[in-house]
Amino acid sequence: MPTNPLSPLDAFDLTGKVAVITGGSRGLGRAMAEAYSAQGATVVIASRKAEACEMAAVGISEKTGGTVLGLGCHVGDWDQCTKLVQRVISEFGRIDVFVNNAGMSPLYESLGTVSEALFDKVIDVNLKGPFRLSALVAEHMVATRTDDEPSGSIIGVSSVASTQPSSGEIPYGAAKAGLNSMMVGLAHMFGPRVRANVIMPGPFLTDISKAWDMDAFNENARKNIPLRRGGEADEIVGAALYLASNASSYTTGSVIKVDGAMTWAAG
Ligand SMILES: NC(=O)c1ccc[n+]([C@@H]2O[C@H](COP(=O)([O-])OP(=O)(O)OC[C@H]3O[C@@H](n4cnc5c(N)ncnc54)[C@H](OP(=O)(O)O)[C@@H]3O)[C@@H](O)[C@H]2O)c1
Repeated sequence: MPTNPLSPLDAFDLTGKVAVITGGSRGLGRAMAEAYSAQGATVVIASRKAEACEMAAVGISEKTGGTVLGLGCHVGDWDQCTKLVQRVISEFGRIDVFVNNAGMSPLYESLGTVSEALFDKVIDVNLKGPFRLSALVAEHMVATRTDDEPSGSIIGVSSVASTQPSSGEIPYGAAKAGLNSMMVGLAHMFGPRVRANVIMPGPFLTDISKAWDMDAFNENARKNIPLRRGGEADEIVGAALYLASNASSYTTGSVIKVDGAMTWAAG
């Protein structure tokens, strides 16, 4: 519901909200975690490596002065997903923002060499885990809010591969397309107490890009990306803050591209 802030920028304030970000230990997730904490949210970051999350939590907290908790969770494992949601609720009593950011796209030589194990892993991390986490979080949000309160916000971090997959990311693109679809479904099923949206990044220069041939990438970027480069992690923050906060109170079921206009088709 609208909040009638004194200044339009007040709508981006996250004070009093609890935000959980999977894959928050580095890359785009860490940039989002830092921004949410700076805007006043209590932040939980979760990834497979608990220690990396704890270290990131300390680093962010030192910078922002906010409460940040790092927890281990392999999002492809539903038991661990359930435990993560339960732990956050028992620790902080609520979840207001949940970002399904953890994701990965392993390299393969050809489609025929993609093993069943690799395919399952890609689906587990990029789609199956976000399904379980979003289902639990959405039901929690519906049960603990009224229609008059600001909605809870669930965000999926998808990829331009979900609409325009290259040859090296066919299973990943399919999983991320599923994530796009799932967020639209959640928006319809759980509104008005829950809003669900997607951020669709183009190429970002995070750890993922360490596997890229950067000369080829830069040449391609100069020709095919209107902004002529890959994104830096903190360039995801504007969209992430918008969707997490009351600034997006009338935005749900949307896909926001942050891709330098790399993709042409409507996403
Ligand atoms: N960078 C890009 O070019 C790009 C483009 C389009 C979309 N995206 C999407 O944006 C999201 C973030 O990407 P990024 O570039 O920031 O990636 P990144 O730098 O590789 O970081 C990935 C994060 O996810 C965590 N993670 C990986 N597997 C996990 C699992 N099974 N369970 C829990 N956490 C897991 C990692 O921590 P641990 O290793 O500790 O688990 C790490 O915190 C991903 O969903 C990715 O698909 C990225």
